[in-house]
Amino acid sequence: MNCQNCHLDAGTRPFGNNYGAVSSTYPKFRGRSASMESIPKRVSDCFERSLNGKSPDPASREMQAIIAYINWLGSNVKKTEKPLGFGIIDLPFLSRAADTVKGKLVYDTHCSSCHQPGGQGVMNVAGTGYTYPPLWGEHSYNIGAGLFRLSRFAGYVKYNMPQGVTYVTPKLTDEEAWDVAAYVNSRQRPFKDLSGDWPDISAKPADHPFGPFTDSFSEQQHKFGPFDIIADAQKKGGKK
Ligand code: HEC
Ligand code: HEC
Repeated sequence: MNCQNCHLDAGTRPFGNNYGAVSSTYPKFRGRSASMESIPKRVSDCFERSLNGKSPDPASREMQAIIAYINWLGSNVKKTEKPLGFGIIDLPFLSRAADTVKGKLVYDTHCSSCHQPGGQGVMNVAGTGYTYPPLWGEHSYNIGAGLFRLSRFAGYVKYNMPQGVTYVTPKLTDEEAWDVAAYVNSRQRPFKDLSGDWPDISAKPADHPFGPFTDSFSEQQHKFGPFDIIADAQKKGGKK
């Protein structure tokens, strides 16, 4: 896979996992590492998680080129500002758990023609990349990736998939987006040791599916929801 399989149009598509707010907001504190993260640190994370690979050295030409590109995209964005269309849209939480059985129906109807019934996608003829990237299996993102969280997957997919839709012309309902997220993220995918993540466990997002947690909700509920009750409990506990 490559970056643009997820950061659509090389990170320029509105709400297509867009890079527009990166140069203006990094370095920034992130709870997953509990540290100030620079752009190369954030990019390394996508290499190691979303691409399930190894990150090039921060000093390498490749990493320097990626940083230069991302900073260039944000060169007209003032420090701390987030331009309209950056990142991924946050979908409202459902008041029920996301449903893998309904999600499979959504997948079979709207996704499998390209991503394939087995989720493995389709390589291009030259074997240099994917015409349709994999959604699960050994070549997909690992369990430490952003898309493994249901909220990230659902928000991304609702406004970008099936291929051809935009944030103005979505095809899936919110429920379908959450359910297909549950189905895809319940399939087999590469493992990553996440024991170093979220050193402050109280900062874990409602849909981070691995304990320990400061609340008493199960890993199952942190994975599939309902998330609204978790988020409410977290707010009462003082989480921002
Ligand atoms: C499998 C999908 C996927 C792939 C492949 C991927 N990313 Fe990401 N990336 C994400 C997701 C999901 C996020 C988190 C977005 C969010 O939470 O709003 C993210 C976040 C980022 C961010 C931070 C964005 C921000 O506004 O804070 C940067 C920078 C980034 N990725 C760069 C890259 C680069 C460079 C590559 C290729 C080396 C890459 N990504 C590959 C899915 C992916
Ligand atoms: C018409 C073909 C097509 C259909 C149908 C389609 N996709 Fe995609 N999908 C793509 C292509 C192509 C990309 C990569 C985009 C790029 O590289 O510019 C992609 C990328 C993705 C990605 C990010 C990359 C990855 O592999 O993790 C996810 C997640 C995704 N699609 C989910 C879905 C879901 C869920 C559905 C059904 C609701 C769906 N897609 C339907 C063609 C399709």
